[in-house]
Amino acid sequence: MNKSKFHIKTWGCQMNEYDSARIADLLETLGMSATEEPADADLIILNTCAVREKAAEKLFHQLGRWKPLKQDRPDLIIAVGGCVASEEGRRIRSRARIVDIVFGPQTYHRLPEMIRRVRSGDGPQIDVSFPANEKFGALPANRSRKVSAFVTIMEGCSHFCSYCIVPYTRGGEVSRPVSEILDEVKTLRDSGAREINLLGQNVNCFRGLNDDGTVCSFAELLYRVHQIDGIRRLRFTTSNPIEFTDELIAAIGDLDKIADSLHLPVQSGSDRILKLMNRPYSADDYRLMVAKVRAVKPSVLISSDFIVGFPSETDEDFEETMRLIRDIRFDNSFSFIYSKRPGTPAATMDDPLPLDAKKERLARLQQLINTYGMQYSRELHGTLQQVLVEGRSPDGVLMSGRTSTSRIVHFPGDDDLIGRMTGVRIAKVLPHCLIGEAQTNP
Ligand code: SAH
Ligand code: SF4
Ligand code: F3S
Repeated sequence: MNKSKFHIKTWGCQMNEYDSARIADLLETLGMSATEEPADADLIILNTCAVREKAAEKLFHQLGRWKPLKQDRPDLIIAVGGCVASEEGRRIRSRARIVDIVFGPQTYHRLPEMIRRVRSGDGPQIDVSFPANEKFGALPANRSRKVSAFVTIMEGCSHFCSYCIVPYTRGGEVSRPVSEILDEVKTLRDSGAREINLLGQNVNCFRGLNDDGTVCSFAELLYRVHQIDGIRRLRFTTSNPIEFTDELIAAIGDLDKIADSLHLPVQSGSDRILKLMNRPYSADDYRLMVAKVRAVKPSVLISSDFIVGFPSETDEDFEETMRLIRDIRFDNSFSFIYSKRPGTPAATMDDPLPLDAKKERLARLQQLINTYGMQYSRELHGTLQQVLVEGRSPDGVLMSGRTSTSRIVHFPGDDDLIGRMTGVRIAKVLPHCLIGEAQTNP
């Protein structure tokens, strides 16, 4: 397999991005190297997401586009992983004969063996099982060279919100042992990471084991990661109103490396819809949570996920969501029209609202949140912002980094600023980034 090439295409959340990066680390230990060009690859991997409708169609459509490559080169291995693979398993191979390997979010460490078997003529390999906590021990060290790096701390979900496929595709919640996480953070720090993004479907439900067998909460983990020298900034996603404890809020107030942006998905502002969604909090509970966070960290900006047009959502329900948005003044959102996922309880609920009405609601919601986001950005004009420099801007002319509130800043500077926190005065506010003057105090 020496010198052969792999191409990975990734859809979905940051955890899928993380998984794809770890798959790349693993394949590099086999002597393979990455290519951006599927036509140059000996192995093509598609890491899929199942969170919204038509995920399977999108997958088969992509496979159709790769079919000619396989016809030209029958030795080309095509592998499908991620949440659609987990959901569909063997059916993928039945529908698309060009697929050689189907693997799940918990079995990608077995890829080398699966590839070996395909190459030695054992036929298609399908493994979408859930061996708990086997994967991380079997992977090589995380080789991200990025200033801002991801670390999965827990995976899976045991909440079963009525619309969501994730508990079925990722399995129940499993937390990594604390020492494994801290070791990964230190390895990343040693190769240049200065910002760590702790990842999980619900990070606040983290229950990792300490070396002595006691259980570590997410708040305690934040303290432990915070202590690691060289890490300048900490982010985490996704935290969730479920188990957003006072202990966690106190940690957010205490730990100054925690960034000024908190993603806390509320989904809806209507208590009736929240109940139907099986989200165990009310809109007022959420208001109180945000008030508590702002009391300990006034500079924090809040972002959220919203589902618009959930089955039976009325105009009044939607107006409740808009009222919550006005109360909280969200900075940003990932907001989508409700998408029916077969097998979930919401898929059987009556959903009479026409798509056009849902689209109209979504546009209004996004427009309102964009207004707040732009206002927050405009307030930065003329201020000195601490920017963690990640690299050059896409055009290569300016340096590029992020403020604590996650704004991208492009500014004049030198490569030796990469990985450093530097003061940048904001000269111009654009819709998707800020332009800064030359840095002042490197
Ligand atoms: N665990 C996180 C979210 C993970 S899924 C939480 O509970 O907050 C990411 C987002 O996808 C969700 O927040 C939700 O807004 C969206 N989502 C999940 N299922 C969906 C569906 N069936 N239709 C539309 N959006 C959905
Ligand atoms: Fe899905 Fe709910 Fe779990 Fe989030 S908490 S991943 S929305 S089931
Ligand atoms: Fe998608 Fe799976 Fe992430 S469904 S959002 S890739 S957990």
